[in-house]
Amino acid sequence: MSDIEFKGQTVFVAGGSSGINLGIARAFARAGAKVAIASRSQERVDGAVAELKSYGGPVLGFSADVRDPLAIAQALQQTHMAWGDIDVLISGAAGNFVAPALGMSANGFRTVVDIDLNGTFHVLRAAHEFLRKPGASIINISAPQAVNPTMFQSHVCAAKAGIDMLTRVLAMEWGPDGVRVNGIAPGPIADTEGIRRLAPTPEDIARMTSSIPLGRMGTTEEIADMAMFLSSTRAQYVTGAVIPVDGGSALSGGRNLGGALNN
Ligand code: NAP
Ligand code: COA
Repeated sequence: MSDIEFKGQTVFVAGGSSGINLGIARAFARAGAKVAIASRSQERVDGAVAELKSYGGPVLGFSADVRDPLAIAQALQQTHMAWGDIDVLISGAAGNFVAPALGMSANGFRTVVDIDLNGTFHVLRAAHEFLRKPGASIINISAPQAVNPTMFQSHVCAAKAGIDMLTRVLAMEWGPDGVRVNGIAPGPIADTEGIRRLAPTPEDIARMTSSIPLGRMGTTEEIADMAMFLSSTRAQYVTGAVIPVDGGSALSGGRNLGGALNN
């Protein structure tokens, strides 16, 4: 997306200190944006801020938990005070672990729903007053679990499905303000914490990869490209869309039934 520029624009990435979200922050920083990130770990935030500053623009980092509406509101307010209206808001903070529903306490289920779904509501709700109106682009990071029922992922399936509905409802409520709200549903993205948790062995990775029509995992850069496209004027009539960037994984529900061919 080197032909799309975000020079001088303000970008806020919730959960932006690692993985896919940091990849998005990096792409906007390289395209000339002023980038703010927020996540829980001060150490991770500091590391990401140092990297993002190396691209030349101003960077802000906040230690804030998306489960704490006040902490998130303060980070957004400080970003607004420093740089003015927020042009691009990414909500991507998430937690995951693999466990059957019966192996999960009420707090285990609630923790993931609190981070992913309630956290997304907190981020968007608090950001609205600081967004550029008209013109802002919001992107929620979804996942295949939002539409594919996936065993041992009851918490994530419920939370990400809820996020997709928030995307659609707020696209309707905030469309009249000139604020677009979209989602990106990444497929398996190589070298990320998500994949380390869902496919911890080489065998798991091979099985997962064999179910992807394009035959490989994606990259954080490929997710960032979609985030930049959606936030650019090229997508100015796109809102309420949740776009898979997944090498075609969603077409087969992410399931590889190849083993059944020999029966
Ligand atoms: P990751 O590196 O663990 O990213 C999660 C980020 O969220 C971290 O920066 C983490 O930093 C932050 N975070 C977690 N809990 C938080 C909280 N309560 N408050 C604020 N920040 C919090 O994982 P990833 O694999 O790149 O995933 C990033 C996003 O992509 C997630 O939304 C995930 O569901 C989605 N996704 C990933 C894949 C994949 O293949 N990896 C596929 C589909 C969707 P702190 O620990 O410092 O808080
Ligand atoms: N199986 C079952 N339950 C689990 C679990 C597992 N593998 N891992 C955590 N839990 C439960 C805990 O036991 C606890 O419940 P309890 O109080 O009834 O015992 C609950 O989840 C909360 O755990 P805790 O460690 O206190 O939560 P946290 O807020 O510190 O961390 C997590 C949240 C659990 C999601 C943690 O994995 C995390 O911080 N993840 C962020 C990174 C990530 O997941 N990246 C991938 C994104 S796709």
